[in-house]
Amino acid sequence: MNTTSTRLEEKLELLRPAMQEAAEKLWSSPNVRKIYPLYLEQMHMVVRSGVSLMRTAALAASKLSESCAFRRTLVDYLDKHIEEEKGHDQWLMDDYEATGGRKEYLISKIPSCQVASMVGAQYYWIIHHHPVMIMGHIAALEINHPPAGFSKRLAKLTGFPSKAFSAIARHEVLDLKHKIEILDLIDQLNLETREEVAVGVSGLHTLQSGVSVLSAIRSRSKKNPLIAERVFNLPWGIHKVKNSS
Ligand SMILES: [Fe+2]
Ligand SMILES: [Fe+2]
Repeated sequence: MNTTSTRLEEKLELLRPAMQEAAEKLWSSPNVRKIYPLYLEQMHMVVRSGVSLMRTAALAASKLSESCAFRRTLVDYLDKHIEEEKGHDQWLMDDYEATGGRKEYLISKIPSCQVASMVGAQYYWIIHHHPVMIMGHIAALEINHPPAGFSKRLAKLTGFPSKAFSAIARHEVLDLKHKIEILDLIDQLNLETREEVAVGVSGLHTLQSGVSVLSAIRSRSKKNPLIAERVFNLPWGIHKVKNSS
């Protein structure tokens, strides 16, 4: 079949090897118990943006010209999906606390450059180009959902209790449906070529940022993370780096 959604899946497939390699390096690390809470921090940063990002896109889509045939379909999808994704950041927060992490720390931490790049690009494209671009971002996330059994594998690898994996375990099931829904929706939109290209760019950027997120987690888990990471996460690191140069 050659449809808009199958062509999008083919594009996203191009980054699957990079994504798999980054994930495998992360989860085969001897530091996996230290890595999992760092992973939850980054996932929380991504997921807590989901509802407000979709609200921004829905508002921008509602203001599209009446000549845009898919305007109503896009707004309806986003309104529905906002309800489906509400509260998923809280699952990640609960999981983080189950690993011994502190909620206050997670909330006060400056979101990483990698997540800001992933999500910030969407705000830019929604506002300054076209709100349909968010469909590439959502599709990239829903298509790359955790595979069945992933939460159990991580529980075994890390030794954390099963309640520290509720977000992953739920997404193993929920995103099977979300993936089908967004791919169907993308076909229903009857996108013009330039819109289809834009959705592809958006999805590829999200996946490329996802690879950067995973690589940065690995860097942070090491004893001597990159200087840029130290400066970014620890305010006193700025002085430390200045003093040592
Ligand atoms: Fe979700
Ligand atoms: Fe989902």
